[in-house]
Amino acid sequence: MIPWALLGRTATPNGEDMALMQRSGEYVILAGGKPLMSSRMHGSEEALADVACRRARAREEPCVLIGGLGMGFTLRATLDVLPRTATVVVAELVAGVVEWNRGPLGALAGHPLDDPRTRVEVGDVADLLRASRGRFDAILLDVDNGPEAFTTSRNTWLYGDAGLAVIRSALAEHGVLAVWSAREHRRFEQRLRYAGFAVDVVRVRARLKRGGPRHVIFVGRL
Ligand SMILES: C[S@@+](CC[C@H](N)C(=O)[O-])C[C@H]1O[C@@H](n2cnc3c(N)ncnc32)[C@H](O)[C@@H]1O
Repeated sequence: MIPWALLGRTATPNGEDMALMQRSGEYVILAGGKPLMSSRMHGSEEALADVACRRARAREEPCVLIGGLGMGFTLRATLDVLPRTATVVVAELVAGVVEWNRGPLGALAGHPLDDPRTRVEVGDVADLLRASRGRFDAILLDVDNGPEAFTTSRNTWLYGDAGLAVIRSALAEHGVLAVWSAREHRRFEQRLRYAGFAVDVVRVRARLKRGGPRHVIFVGRL
């Protein structure tokens, strides 16, 4: 069996370990030694863009925020559905992840960081949200494996009442929040409703029409 090769090691600002591994053309990012994502199946990360940007794509100059660069699949899919006049801000907590996307991961999603519509902000998406009022037509969050902290314990705040209120105020009129999740989460759905969103739960397969594990996208519309 071909062994995994360690391509890079980095850390979150909190000191949590992250690593990039590769084996036979497949890449995996580990957070705290556990798989955060793999390049093998990324249909649901792309579906996140499609579901979130249905309204934004019709705007003249849409402005969209993506929380979490990962391997760039959601960023690529977002750029593909938006017009040339769009701005796509990507908040990525870990500078090393951005470097991996400028290096070994770049080709996986067709180098989306090179698109002139992309703005990368290295830092916590929570800080960017707190500093933004009515700015984004859509906010796409895929920073953990769902609405529970995984990459860093600080992410817990994002999915609670305080975080959702800040997300809400960072959205423009008729803005849309979409959150990727590996599983159902009834309490998060309820919290979204309590925060004032009209909620849809969209179920997608990791390989879309070709099957794969079932994933969930929580959609909150203003
Ligand atoms: C599951 S991956 C994202 C996958 C991405 N949707 C894709 O298509 O490749 C999660 C990413 O979010 C980043 N991240 C985690 N917490 C964050 C935060 N609070 N702010 C910004 N980025 C964060 C991680 O470093 C990682 O790059």
